[in-house]
Amino acid sequence: MRTVRLKASKSYDIVIGQGLLDRAGEYIKKAAGGRVAAVVTDDIVGPLYGRRLEASLEGQGYGVVKYTIEQGEASKNACNFISLLNFFAQSRMSRTDVVVALGGGVVGDLAGFAAASYMRGTKFVQLPTTLLAAVDSSVGGKTAIDLEAGKNLAGAFYQPDLVLCDHVLLRTLSAGALRDGLAEVIKYGVIADSELFGRLKSPVFDQIEQIIGRCVEIKRDVVCEDETEQGARKLFNFGHTVGHAIEHLSGFGLSHGRAVAAGMAVMARAANRKGICPDSSRDEILEMIAFHGLETTTGYTPNEIWKACLNDKKRSGGSISLVVPERVGHCRLMEVSLEELLDFIILGVEGE
Ligand SMILES: NC(=O)c1ccc[n+]([C@@H]2O[C@H](COP(=O)([O-])OP(=O)(O)OC[C@H]3O[C@@H](n4cnc5c(N)ncnc54)[C@H](O)[C@@H]3O)[C@@H](O)[C@H]2O)c1
Repeated sequence: MRTVRLKASKSYDIVIGQGLLDRAGEYIKKAAGGRVAAVVTDDIVGPLYGRRLEASLEGQGYGVVKYTIEQGEASKNACNFISLLNFFAQSRMSRTDVVVALGGGVVGDLAGFAAASYMRGTKFVQLPTTLLAAVDSSVGGKTAIDLEAGKNLAGAFYQPDLVLCDHVLLRTLSAGALRDGLAEVIKYGVIADSELFGRLKSPVFDQIEQIIGRCVEIKRDVVCEDETEQGARKLFNFGHTVGHAIEHLSGFGLSHGRAVAAGMAVMARAANRKGICPDSSRDEILEMIAFHGLETTTGYTPNEIWKACLNDKKRSGGSISLVVPERVGHCRLMEVSLEELLDFIILGVEGE
């Protein structure tokens, strides 16, 4: 078991280990207190793990109420957000009670935004059950829902009081969901840690605790320095500008991780053709993406991708922040004009 402490606007522990689900009540009581625990989950995770979490919470004297959404990105919507707030009110929750997100990034983002909004902020604990949520979305305090105009357009920075990651729960993930998480782990390796990157050639479940722990440490270090994404935190968007664009172009038929993987591949090729990234690093990135069964090609024209990028919320006026790999373990942040962005995309897609 390992514990990573994050000190930002709120300080909290991220605990990673085995058997934490059945001890969640103890940890949550200590970190968040309260009388009522509202467990938010989805209709796949709830039947698998909800009962054990409830039993553990009840064992610590919590009155447990449960809200289940349909699995999938479409549930991260304004309608579920309002329903959840009404559910908290009907359950007579106060600000000192606790919202417990049991699930992947969809559950965590929705429950977190509701926790941030209910009575201007209630206690909040994340129990990530996907690899993506474990290494990324449960840590750092970004919460959001999607609007009709795009993903994550309404949300808040709201740090949890605790993150409990029982990695045994990841064993029931589908191959697709696991791959989505691996795309984010590859991202961490490219932006910050070549040793972590190298580990990904060996079986992931043999070293799952180390992998999650290292990703969380990297995220912790950057979030402590730049909680609200004014600078260094933008590095986590490696592959995401193009990734979000092709996710959108696919009508969200392409999963987030697969889209991000293709976005990283585009940036690796573009950086190489611009003389920023050597052939060897470009090849290592492309090979690692392919090794894990993820896409290295987009299937769209540069112009289609570029137009879809213009909706990116990271765009400010006539420029956009791009994360460009210099080698495995190090990326550069570049503020580029929209014309320069098109140039990057052309170079990255042409070489596919
Ligand atoms: N807040 C952040 O910083 C941040 C960062 C990255 C991504 N995100 C968001 O995260 C979301 C994607 O998260 P995700 O990839 O976890 O998707 P998800 O929450 O939709 O989970 C993927 C699928 O796996 C199932 N599942 C979850 N845990 C399981 C388990 N242990 N066993 C079996 N099935 C399980 C879910 O029911 C779902 O069908 C997106 O909405 C994205 O915008 C947020």
